[in-house]
Parts: sequence; structure tokens; C-alpha cells
Amino acid sequence: MSDDVKKGLLGIVVDETTISQVMPDINSLTYRGYAVQDLCEKCCFEEVAYLILNKELPNKTKLKKFKKALEENRNITINLREIVKHMPKRSHPMDVARTVVSVMGLEDKDTNNNSPAANMRKAIRIFAKTPTAIAAFFRARKGKNVIPPKKNLGFSENFFYMCFGKIPSKEIIKAFDVSLILYAEHSFNVSTFTARTITSSLSDIHSAITGAIGSLKGPLHGGANEAVMHMMSKIKKPESALKWINSALDKKEVVMGFGHRVYKKGDSRVPTMEKYFKKVSKIKNDKKFLKIYDIVKSVMIERKDIYPNVDFPTGPTYHLMGFDTDFFTPIFVLSRITGWSAHIMEQHAANKLIRPLSKYSGEKHRKVMLLNQR
Ligand code: COA
Repeated sequence: MSDDVKKGLLGIVVDETTISQVMPDINSLTYRGYAVQDLCEKCCFEEVAYLILNKELPNKTKLKKFKKALEENRNITINLREIVKHMPKRSHPMDVARTVVSVMGLEDKDTNNNSPAANMRKAIRIFAKTPTAIAAFFRARKGKNVIPPKKNLGFSENFFYMCFGKIPSKEIIKAFDVSLILYAEHSFNVSTFTARTITSSLSDIHSAITGAIGSLKGPLHGGANEAVMHMMSKIKKPESALKWINSALDKKEVVMGFGHRVYKKGDSRVPTMEKYFKKVSKIKNDKKFLKIYDIVKSVMIERKDIYPNVDFPTGPTYHLMGFDTDFFTPIFVLSRITGWSAHIMEQHAANKLIRPLSKYSGEKHRKVMLLNQR
């Protein structure tokens, strides 16, 4: 391949952003200038969502107003609830997530209004309603009654309530909140770039987020948290981990939850998520996955010098919290809607159609022969 082809846009800077900064050299990630680790320890998920969408952390009054707006927008239409209930039970929940955001676009009165105010209103609605639709499918596919959202509950509490009918301990809610904060935003990753590319044709936010969900689904991106759990299930027990990982590496397999396009010496989000993975393992009195985690991680670093990414500790944490494996990436969606929305609004504010070039390597120019001459 010739040098002027930048396959995978490797190393190409395509635009400016004020939303987040990934700094692989110092293993750091900031949202609007705040270190993500600091946000995890000092803020709830709603505060960070507000920061990503509004550029500043909220004061008490602004946070209260933001939470109220989310609570008031949580209900989905009867139409959407029925659609979710009638989706094939075997559907992948990421396909359901993609479809429900698309349906919300059909129902939203502002769909074709791309003004900043309308985009913010739509972002809030998508952010508030998507958990309700995902939780509805979580229950409906098991033949259980759909639990409507409840006011006066935080984002994470309400999601657990809609999925399980009860709210876990404060420590579990905090661990879930932390995972959402870590998943909320990550500069020009593939799904965000997809959202910005769709936006660049002046399309609408529902279309851009629908496309972004399709992109996030892939195992090289968000789908990795699900793939990590399948790998852990294959390994089964800590005693098998060493043999399994060595054999996978001997066979030159890609080990899910490891490696990153930007971070080459460790993902800035991993130490925080590892801490909460450990806490959840302790609360649940189940250290099996933690032991497998440690063995696989040390072999990957020792043999390949490849470090875990955030999906590696997040996958087993969600499993221990009781979520079905195929719901891990949809949970990622619930959080990343904030980052995507901010990028969509940023793209609209200073838009330039995204249209790269390609190097043609097909057949040389040729003439069409008439059928009886071929
Ligand atoms: N397991 C085994 N080897 C890996 C690896 C992994 N998870 N990640 C990277 N490598 C190896 C590649 O095989 C390649 O080796 P080679 O040079 O001998 O061919 C080298 O490291 C460079 O990897 P490459 O795939 O070219 O880097 P990339 O920047 O294009 O890819 C990812 C980054 C994320 C796609 C890649 O690391 C991956 O597939 N990881 C697993 C999926 C995952 O966890 N995704 C979530 C990301 S947050």
C-alpha cells in the first residue's frame, strides 16, 4: 500500500474539539479540562453528563433542574413500548437500542430542527428515554412485565429499578455510576466519528446517534465488553486462565479487552474501573473473575506488552451486578449518548462536510462490449 493512503485514518487529525482530551503520553483523559479520575471520585453521573453537554459543571440549582428535566422525559410513548415488546426476543439488545433511537426520531417534534436549542432538547430526550426502552426489552424478552421509570431516583438507580424492580446498595450504584462516567466520552473514537460524519451532511441527531450505535456494536469498539465476558466464560475458572491465555497467544488470537488505537502503555480509565471491579467482587463475595482478570492481564503485559482497555474490567463488573452479557454494550450506549450529543452539537456549530479521498486500485479504464461480443 502506498504511503499516501492513511488506512484507518491512523494518526490523522481531522478537527478540533473542546469536549475531551486523550493524552496517552501521560496516561490521562480529561472531559472539558477535568481529569476523569477526579470526576469519578467527586461527581455523580448526572453532573458529568451535564458537564459534557453544557461545557461547565453544574451548581446545585442547575443540577436539580437538569435531573428534573431527565425525570420528566423518562417516559417512552405507548407506541415505542409496544414496538419494544414485539421485537423478536432473540434480537441483540444493541440492535434494539439502534432501532429505538431511530423510532424516537419518528416521534420527536423537533426531528428536523437542527438549531442549538432544539438539538439540546432532543439530546436530553434521547438521554432520558433510551434507558427506559432498553430496560423494557431487558424484561420483555424474558416474558416479564415492563417496569415504568420512577421519579426521584438518580439515573443509575432508576435503570436498576426498571431492569430488576429493586435498587441495589449505594456502593453498587456508585460503581455503576463510575462505569458510566468512564464510558461517557473519548474524543474521536469510531462511533463518535460516525456521529460527526453523519452530522456533517446536516442530518439530524437521531440519525447520527442511530449510526453511532451501529458503530459501537462492533467487537473492536464497544462490543468488546461483551466479548470479554464470553472469554471469561470460556476460561471458566482461575486454574484454567494461564493455559487459556498462553494458548490464545500461541494461536495469534486477538484477546478482547486489550489494546487501544491511542493508548499504547495503558488505558487511563482502567485503574479507576479496576478499583470498582474489586469493590463489586468483594460485595458480591465472588472473586473468580478478578483472579482470571489478574492472570490474563499479567500474561498479556509480559508476553505482548499490551495493556487492558476499559472494557476488560467493565465486562465482569456488569456481570456481577446481574446484567445479561448482551446488555453490556447497550449500557455503554446509555452513557455515550452524552458524548455523541456534545460532538453532534459541536459539529453543527462549525460544520464542514466530511468527505475523504480514496486511491483507486481497481480495473483500468475499459470499454463495455456488446453482449454478443463478450
Ligand atoms: N490481542 C492480541 N494482540 C493484539 C491486541 C489484542 N487485543 N491488540 C493489538 N494486538 C496486536 C496486533 O495483533 C498487532 O500485532 P502485529 O503488529 O504483530 O500484527 C499489534 O498489536 C497492533 O495492533 P493493531 O490491531 O494494529 O492496533 P490498532 O490500533 O489498529 O487496534 C484495537 C486497536 C483496539 C482494534 C485492537 O487492540 C483490538 O482489536 N483489541 C481488541 C478489541 C478491544 O478490546 N476493543 C476495545 C477498544 S477500547
